Amino acid sequence: MRRRDLLKLAATAPVAALAGGERAKAQTRQTTRLRPGGSDDGFDPWVEVIAPAFRHNAAEVSRLAGGRPILAVIKNNAYGVGDQVVGPIVDGCPQVVGLACVRPGEALAMRAMGVGKPILTMAELGIEESAELVRKDVTLSCWLDDAGERLARIAKAARRRVPVHPYLDTGMNREGMPLTRALPWLENLARQPDIHLDGIYQMFVHDVEFDRVQLERFTSFLDRAAAAGIRPRLRHAAATFELHRVPESHLDAVRVGNALFGSPAGPDVAHPFDPKPVFRLRARVVRVERVEAGESAGFNRGFRPPAATSVALLPVGHTDGYASAAAGVSEVLIGDRTYPVVPGGVNSAHTIVDVGADPAVRVGDVATLIGPDHPSILPAEVGARTKTGTLQVMTRLSALLPRRVVEA
Ligand SMILES: Cc1ncc(COP(=O)(O)O)c(C=O)c1O
Repeated sequence: MRRRDLLKLAATAPVAALAGGERAKAQTRQTTRLRPGGSDDGFDPWVEVIAPAFRHNAAEVSRLAGGRPILAVIKNNAYGVGDQVVGPIVDGCPQVVGLACVRPGEALAMRAMGVGKPILTMAELGIEESAELVRKDVTLSCWLDDAGERLARIAKAARRRVPVHPYLDTGMNREGMPLTRALPWLENLARQPDIHLDGIYQMFVHDVEFDRVQLERFTSFLDRAAAAGIRPRLRHAAATFELHRVPESHLDAVRVGNALFGSPAGPDVAHPFDPKPVFRLRARVVRVERVEAGESAGFNRGFRPPAATSVALLPVGHTDGYASAAAGVSEVLIGDRTYPVVPGGVNSAHTIVDVGADPAVRVGDVATLIGPDHPSILPAEVGARTKTGTLQVMTRLSALLPRRVVEA
């Protein structure tokens, strides 16, 4: 019975070989294992990636963006959720016109998994790796002073025209070509036949007042470029913060990650936003034992129950991405009840849960440590209780955990 909770996971044809709806269907049966382990009858923890939640969040983002297209940011291994599985799901969302990542490996992994839409790498990269990306139809970014020369070398190595989105620095002083030097630099890029100015962008600092200053700098620069005859196709600037708070910055497309990954909007937003969490962290109970009054559980006798109780052991810990700060403050869902994680109960590979004196929990039961299924285990709630925040609850998920794509 309980095994019904688990996805039926069949070996499938490589997803890359499939297209459109076929790919989506194959995804629902697919487990991505990055090394051996994670069998259905074993006790390895796993991450479920909830495909409909991404589709729902994409529709929500599109609504807030007034129907403008979405560049889906899936950097940092898709915010920890797993780029190899998230890429194809996001690729299938009709509101998404392209995907944006940072590292070359992320772009290549997505292409290998069959992602067909444009992919933008938001970084300066090496010549050879850039050439490989261009051969795989990946769009590059540039901001260095010698970008013209570098892109010409990339075009030569790839034997292709290079699509590029110049990245401008309008005041964040992190990445990008500073606006003071940007016009002659862009004119130089525009003159080169091997370079295709497919888009142009900048990043906001996430401060409403200064965002507006940055927007003014960006749009007046674009006006000057247009006066010089340069009109890159896609102008994008807004991330999740601006999606919610600076609607005039939405331009030709919004470039968002957090909202797609289900992060709540927070206070002071123009319109309500109803995001859904996109993953579950799960493991099966591997031991249930009684702890008598006066006894203790865990290192340093961290849990000393006032009366006899039972503890369930979950084979998942902080190396898998479940914060040690969850001990003593968080709960896990087993069946239809939540149970407290005991003080000191999160170790590197284990979590101890108090399941009460007369436990309904059995070895093999599925426990959900983080997920949409109960208010006390929502990513935002776990983030608040562990004082890490929703984003870190996701980005700390170990890349080595098996990923299972589910439809509910
Ligand atoms: C350049 C750039 N654009 C867009 C984003 C997406 O930001 P968010 O996840 O807040 O939407 C990021 C993420 O940090 C980024 O670095």
